[in-house]
Parts: sequence; C-alpha cells; structure tokens
Amino acid sequence: MAELKVLISRERIAQRVAEMGAEITRDFSGETVILVGVLKGAAIFLGDLARHIQLDATFDFIGVSSYGNRPSPAQQLKSGWDSTGEVRLTKDVDQSMKQRNVILVEDILDTGLTLTYLKKILLAHQPKALRIATLLDKPSRRTQPMQADYVGFGIPDEFVVGYGLDYAEMYRNLPDICVVPRE
Ligand code: IMP
Repeated sequence: MAELKVLISRERIAQRVAEMGAEITRDFSGETVILVGVLKGAAIFLGDLARHIQLDATFDFIGVSSYGNRPSPAQQLKSGWDSTGEVRLTKDVDQSMKQRNVILVEDILDTGLTLTYLKKILLAHQPKALRIATLLDKPSRRTQPMQADYVGFGIPDEFVVGYGLDYAEMYRNLPDICVVPRE
C-alpha cells in the first residue's frame, strides 16, 4: 500500500467522535434517534459515533451516486469534483422517519450537493427533527449553502482517504485520514 501523509490521526478522530457522540446524547436527552448513514463512506464513522451515543438508537442506510458527470478519481484529484448537481438515489431508507429524530451521518461535506439532495428526501418523511453529522467539512468547496449541525473537523481543499473515505474504492480501511497527493 502506498505511503500517504496523515492529516488526522486515529487518536484525534477517536477523541472528536466521542465528543460528537456526547453532544448528540445531550441534545436528544430522553429521546430516541435513528442514525441514517450515507453509503459507503459513512459506515465506519457511524459505527464509532453510535457507540458514543448513550440513547436508544437504531440504524438505517441511504445510498447515492451522481449521474455520469462525476469525473474519474484522477480528475477529481486534479481539479476536484465539480458535479453539476445530478445526484441519484441508489438505496432508500428501510423505515418511515415520520415523527422520528433523524441524524443523517455523512463522511464529508464538500460542495453540499449530496446533503442538499438527501435533506430534501428525508424532510419529505416529516421527521420530528433532522440533524446532520459530518466527520469532515471542506467549506471552501461549497457550491450549495449547506451547514452540518455536528462537524468533526474542518479541512482544507485536499483529497482525503481513510476511515471510510475512498479513492476509486481503495483506502477505506485506513485507520487515519490521509491526503492523496495531487502530484
Ligand atoms: P458533495 O456532494 O460535493 O458535498 O460531496 C460529498 C461526497 O463527495 C462525499 O460523500 C464523498 O463521497 C465525496 N468526496 C468529496 N470529497 C472527498 C474526498 O476528499 N475524499 C473522498 N471522497 C470525497
């Protein structure tokens, strides 16, 4: 496996995820929550976050991909992903979210297109509350006004992998968050 530079170590991730879990526990004290993970990148984050939420919690997953206009991983590295907003649902949630406290769990908030699309879908379920938890946020890349309620780390405009995040489906299993060099 190639040597990649660590941006956020596993220790820092663990500490911050624990803090985020404690925040969610406080905010929803006495209530139940549904954690909805965005496949596949958020799976590891959801697993760790859930273990720091001291509430009755259930899991669900939602899947998206973008229509043909997403550049190849190599192009993404060079110029970033400038999708024109055509996000497509590949897997819907399995249960009704009506009158439930929903926490949408995402790996990274980049342009904001994915979360804008998913928020609309989940709001149509008429949840009691809808909050967004993202491990990473690249605010400088935003093209849609989108803010998460719980943010692990703000990061610069770098392409990152590890802890669930991929480059052409690779590196999701790295325990640290690493930067893929742009050459
Ligand atoms: P957005 O719709 O532009 O906000 O992009 C969100 C999605 O883009 C994430 O769920 C990731 O799948 C992908 N993405 C954005 N930046 C990165 C990155 O640095 N590494 C890996 N995937 C990324």
